[in-house]
Amino acid sequence: MHANEHLIDLRSDTVTRPTPGMMRAMAAAELGDDVLGDDPTVKRLQAVVAERLGKEAGLFVPSGTMGNQLAIRAQSAPGDQVVVEDGAHVYRYEAGAPAALSGVQLTCVPAPGGLLSWERVEAALNPANVHCAPPSLVCLENTHNRAGGRLVPQALVTAIGAGARARGLRVHLDGARLWHAHIAGGLPLAELAAPVDTVSVCFSKGLGAPVGSVLAGDREVIARAWRFRKMWGGGMRQSGLLAAACLYALEHQLERLAEDHARATSIARGLDHPALAVGHPVDTNIVIIDVAGADGDTRLVAHLASRGILTLGFGPGRVRLVPNLLNSDADIARVVDALNGFPRA
Ligand SMILES: Cc1ncc(COP(=O)(O)O)c(C=O)c1O
Repeated sequence: MHANEHLIDLRSDTVTRPTPGMMRAMAAAELGDDVLGDDPTVKRLQAVVAERLGKEAGLFVPSGTMGNQLAIRAQSAPGDQVVVEDGAHVYRYEAGAPAALSGVQLTCVPAPGGLLSWERVEAALNPANVHCAPPSLVCLENTHNRAGGRLVPQALVTAIGAGARARGLRVHLDGARLWHAHIAGGLPLAELAAPVDTVSVCFSKGLGAPVGSVLAGDREVIARAWRFRKMWGGGMRQSGLLAAACLYALEHQLERLAEDHARATSIARGLDHPALAVGHPVDTNIVIIDVAGADGDTRLVAHLASRGILTLGFGPGRVRLVPNLLNSDADIARVVDALNGFPRA
């Protein structure tokens, strides 16, 4: 890294900082005590997001993890079966919460590219008898993080929604990056969320807010989630300060996600190295590079760090790069250059 070069942080889209306009919106926010139900900015965010997602109600929560886990808690009973894709964030990266906080039994169904189908879900459902955990919920993820920001074909979501409903099951969608699915695929957010009962969306990722997620669904399920949010310590007081950042992000930083998607594609297209390959379609803002050779992930992360580029190892031989609000096109050219300069074995 040359003395006049800045650090390029591609570890995640969560590393962004509030933009100046966002800071001004936060400073100007009207506030109240949200645990007492009177923060006007939180209420506005919940209403706006529920409306955009075509749901009756929304609940502001501190994190995507809490949104997902509240959805599980509010739509299952301890001992129930919950079906998820094997690479799902709710299963892999939420600290064992489904077991610890909801007491449910996860059935993890492997699916190529993370793309669960109704046929795979149905085959995994327990039979209705006294020996088995009764199925109550299916969890989906769009876009799919571990599958490289994969855009889930809407026909799959629709089929799972219809199949689940016919079997009396509910469906939750982890939409931490549903914004990206909307921008990349062009479908309205409400259409993406229509087949499912609950959906959680994050503002602290590509949208660039410092904190915040919303869980949306029907009034009854959101009322249940509200109670568990309180129980889990997720009730916040003048959280309108954070909700203002989320509203600002929705209004001013949603359309620009297309830039992140284009930059991710540029990285994938620019790759020209015998030991490096992108093993998935780059639909949105995540690039996962497969690195050949022993300790490939560690060596590539260290090489890029020596060039002032931060990335994350994503399992043996895999490195994740996530273009975000902090990057420019010139940064991406530097990243491609550094990748192609990875020392050859
Ligand atoms: C797909 C997905 N769901 C949920 C989360 C959890 O969000 P948080 O870090 O806000 O708990 C993440 C975080 O990266 C994610 O990628």
